Amino acid sequence: MIDFKTKIAQELEKVVQINEKELETYIEIPKDTKNGDYSFPCFKLAKELKKAPQMIANDIKEKINIEGTGIEKVEVIGGFLNFFVDKKVLAREVLNEISSKEEYGRSKIGEGRNIVIDYSAPNIAKPFHIGHLRSTVIGGALSNIYKFLGYNVTGINHLGDYGTQFGKLIEGYKLWGNEYDIDKDPINELTKIYIRINNLCKEDESVLNACRDNFKKLEEGDSYCTELWEKFKSVSLKEFQKVYDLLGSKFESWNGEAFYSDKMPEVIELLEKSGKLVESQGAKIVDLSNDGIDTPCIIIKSNGSTTYATRDLAAILYRTRTYDFEKALYVTSYEQVLHFKQVFATAKYLGLDEKYLNGLKHIPFGMVLLPTGKMSTREGNIIKLEDLLNEAIERAKEIIEQKNPELEDKEETAKKVGIGAVIFNDLSNNRVKDEIFDWDTILNFQGETGPYIQYMYVRIKSVLEKANGVPNIKEVNVEKLDDSYSQDILKLIYNFEDTLVAVTEKEEPSILSRYLIDLAKAYSSFYNENKIMVEDKETKDARVYLSYATAKVLKEGTALLGMEMPNKM
Ligand code: ARG
Repeated sequence: MIDFKTKIAQELEKVVQINEKELETYIEIPKDTKNGDYSFPCFKLAKELKKAPQMIANDIKEKINIEGTGIEKVEVIGGFLNFFVDKKVLAREVLNEISSKEEYGRSKIGEGRNIVIDYSAPNIAKPFHIGHLRSTVIGGALSNIYKFLGYNVTGINHLGDYGTQFGKLIEGYKLWGNEYDIDKDPINELTKIYIRINNLCKEDESVLNACRDNFKKLEEGDSYCTELWEKFKSVSLKEFQKVYDLLGSKFESWNGEAFYSDKMPEVIELLEKSGKLVESQGAKIVDLSNDGIDTPCIIIKSNGSTTYATRDLAAILYRTRTYDFEKALYVTSYEQVLHFKQVFATAKYLGLDEKYLNGLKHIPFGMVLLPTGKMSTREGNIIKLEDLLNEAIERAKEIIEQKNPELEDKEETAKKVGIGAVIFNDLSNNRVKDEIFDWDTILNFQGETGPYIQYMYVRIKSVLEKANGVPNIKEVNVEKLDDSYSQDILKLIYNFEDTLVAVTEKEEPSILSRYLIDLAKAYSSFYNENKIMVEDKETKDARVYLSYATAKVLKEGTALLGMEMPNKM
């Protein structure tokens, strides 16, 4: 496809003798289409050339040659030079690209570049909570988008499978294992054991010591303790997998915290060598006050055990060596902002190459707020995610039952709509914002929701069916798409790849969700204003083809977010 921005910059370069790449960064996309499709502000040049911006703009307008660029006219308004893309050229470029590419927008810009995404990461023997759901959905979307742009992505599920709590669980299981049916309801039963043993530890010092001893044995590879730990891990993973299956989540690596148990001594050695590891009240810490962080990073606790941070440092070492990453992203709630600040600051003292240090990025997200009383909670405020997802499917089924009782594949469709609604909701706002989880909003077919986009897609599908399929691209007369409704859609489709790039620049999937809402709305206006099944064959074919193009982008875009499209609903 013609890159209009680059074309404009290339022609500008000839007139103003500034490097094309620099010029490209000045070019803006005006909010109001009255001001063209691209705009070049002359204010910076005015300073340099000591001339009024408007004079410069007029001057450039006279000299610039736009022939063959796909730009049909240039206008000066104030100090701006506004460029208008030729409507036919835009339509031809976009539709040709749609017809020739199996996956429109797939690119190679990430080729040879390695990205690590650490996400999901629930804790063994503890509930997979709604925060882990957000991490799973945001991390999964980022992973899909980076892959689509050609990056080499390693998605890591950094499971919480290590720490002194396992010593306690082992002790609890030894004492009362036969009273609980762990295979039937692993997380709840293990949580009960954990609460019980924790209480006993508070009353009885000797039990606490036994727990510590178990953990030590586990670290030393004792076979009984390891066997139990493996059992806890495998029953928990089986539970988590149910959620991953519903969401369609896949990971390249399942190396959790325990994986780093034999990799921590090197961290301690390196920190010692750097002179930054100091004793403080029996613990070993790294003081970060010179790095602008008041709280030190604890590497070894006073009882001798390592910490969550120590394991993250070992993981950084391992990941630099194994994945040679350009970026390593960590997707967790903003509650862990301080943790990652500490870990990244401490990583400087491991002697890592600057490029790795610059690539470490925490991707925080907001809380999910539950309107109380609306959701079934089995254990106090713990919501089983599997239940939540199944509830989404049930509710979607009820809506479908009302709206379209004749529909075939109701089960399959309800799953796509219910899960899609939850996923889209998680991604629809700026990620650091807290999110309110409200069933009626999430599943509203008229709102800015996943089901709304799915509904629009299904509508297009039925248009295509009525039209007896998609016409051949060679028969499409692009002149028939010069009205503003068609042009709005074409511009959006043209910007699809740039939108994906913007997601990776800000690590913000909501940029794509917003885009998909805009595209669905643009189609809705197009559909309401333009009749598609008109007498004039050329007009009809062009509109049908544009509908097909829209459906293709809606489907690809939602798939990148992790959603599936129903064919009917
Ligand atoms: N298991 C942690 C939790 O549930 C999240 C782990 C995030 N990843 C990391 N490398 N620390 O809060």
